[in-house]
Amino acid sequence: MNEGLGILIGVSKPDQVIFESKRPVSIGEYVTMVYGKGKVLGLVERSSISSDALGNSIRNYEEAYESKQVAAENRRDKSYKGHVRILGFLDDLKKCKAILPALPPEPGTEVFEASTEDLSAIFAPSGMQWIRIGTLLRNTEVDARVNVDKVVSRHLAVLAMTGMGKSNLVSLLAQEIARIAGTMVVFDYHDDYSMLDMGSNNSNLMDARINPRLLSADKLAEVIEIQENASNQMHVLRMAFTEEVKQRKGEDFWDALINASMAAGADKAYREAASKVVDKIDDARRKFHNILDAGMADPLALVKNGKINVINLVELTERQANIAVSFYLEELLEDRKKATRQKKGPSKSQPRFPAPVLVVIEEAHVFIPKDEDTDTKYFASKVAREGRKFGLGLVIVSQRPRGIDANILSQMGSLAVMRMIQHDDQAHVSAATESLSRDLIDQLTSLNPGEAIFAGQWVNLPTFVKVDEVKERKMGVDQKAVEAWNQMAAIKKVAKESSESYVPSGYIQD
Ligand SMILES: Nc1ncnc2c1ncn2[C@@H]1O[C@H](COP(=O)(O)OP(=O)(O)OP(=O)(O)O)[C@@H](O)[C@H]1O
Ligand SMILES: [Mg+2]
Repeated sequence: MNEGLGILIGVSKPDQVIFESKRPVSIGEYVTMVYGKGKVLGLVERSSISSDALGNSIRNYEEAYESKQVAAENRRDKSYKGHVRILGFLDDLKKCKAILPALPPEPGTEVFEASTEDLSAIFAPSGMQWIRIGTLLRNTEVDARVNVDKVVSRHLAVLAMTGMGKSNLVSLLAQEIARIAGTMVVFDYHDDYSMLDMGSNNSNLMDARINPRLLSADKLAEVIEIQENASNQMHVLRMAFTEEVKQRKGEDFWDALINASMAAGADKAYREAASKVVDKIDDARRKFHNILDAGMADPLALVKNGKINVINLVELTERQANIAVSFYLEELLEDRKKATRQKKGPSKSQPRFPAPVLVVIEEAHVFIPKDEDTDTKYFASKVAREGRKFGLGLVIVSQRPRGIDANILSQMGSLAVMRMIQHDDQAHVSAATESLSRDLIDQLTSLNPGEAIFAGQWVNLPTFVKVDEVKERKMGVDQKAVEAWNQMAAIKKVAKESSESYVPSGYIQD
């Protein structure tokens, strides 16, 4: 065993102890103690340094100055305290079980730094389901691995302020899942993932498409931007959007829908509304021709098994994106239900996805908002509740956790949280999850980009992690404005100079 780091002092509890250390200790360090039936692992959750001579009672600068000299000479002056959460017996933790000792340790018990071997056995277990995401924050020689099976079966929330590394973490997960030819569907709202290198051709990039023929009349109205309160226009569209019209494909569909709308305008009361609906259909058909595709088969047909499918939502309005995401979610859930049932007995049609699928929703506060019922929220909540049984996992990503529906957030079995300074965000996350203690939440303000706390089912224990940086990512990088402006000015200057030196024939220079 290595040399002792400190000694327990004060009041010990079964799950929390305080020790006096030989040196300052960092938050996120792991320590061991021997008591009860063996070696116990603990995590430093709070750390402080204080000085006897330089206490709060100092009243003026002179006193502080003199006390500083006293403190420097006195070996007993400084106190380095570590507040430790007891995580469980080491041997049990290595077998993925957290069992707390029944009795607290005696004050006076010696505290040691945890060894690399012990930490690796817990944080970097072997087995195909464990993939490397980075290293422990304070023990960089120890890999931090996560259990992908648990991500798919129990879902994951990735939460932090903007620019702290959420998309980087999702990219890393995607790359690792691509390596084992897993199936992932990423809804890409900001074109963050199109440049990602998945190696060996394992990515499938596509633009989100909506087939208007597969929508309900109400959703079609949203997509072509008919106002919810325009009841006459809604009436016309409902009348026009008949089964017969739905059968028509491609351009034929739009023509048929326009004709049927005009026909609905034969009734004088609806004439004006019908002409507005025709304009809206015409507009949408032109403006959204990249998105609304009445000729395509089922949009899900483009999503491929064993690939990282990145569905680009950039060109969609927020409402369209919502309808598209909810459509894909609904279809995926249906398909996975079919696949699961088929395992139990023969069924008529083949499922498209015979193996589990992991879905990522970025900007979760937009798609799964707290105070509003959206289409995506309805299906995301179904996936959150039922996905476990059917092998459909959900990853929700957000820089505004306080805006996410609490119910869905509470169903996320695992968490990756990075720097988060807003109290509202912290409180919302803390209320929705059991896996993050108050002390851990308090640490969120001290994290740097790429540093995270992992908690919940995908890790054996709450873990401070330094997440690997995905080097191939081109997007998400902060734009360097000054450099770009300089370059632009330089190019302008060159262009101006070359145009000045150019004398068109027929002109005489002074
Ligand atoms: N693990 C990491 N190690 C080092 N740097 C990182 C790491 N993760 C992210 N960064 C840096 O932070 C930048 C932003 O990362 P990323 O795009 O993942 O943030 P984000 O949380 O998704 O932001 P947004 O909320 O704007 O989507 C990256 O371009 C990179 O420079
Ligand atoms: Mg991002």
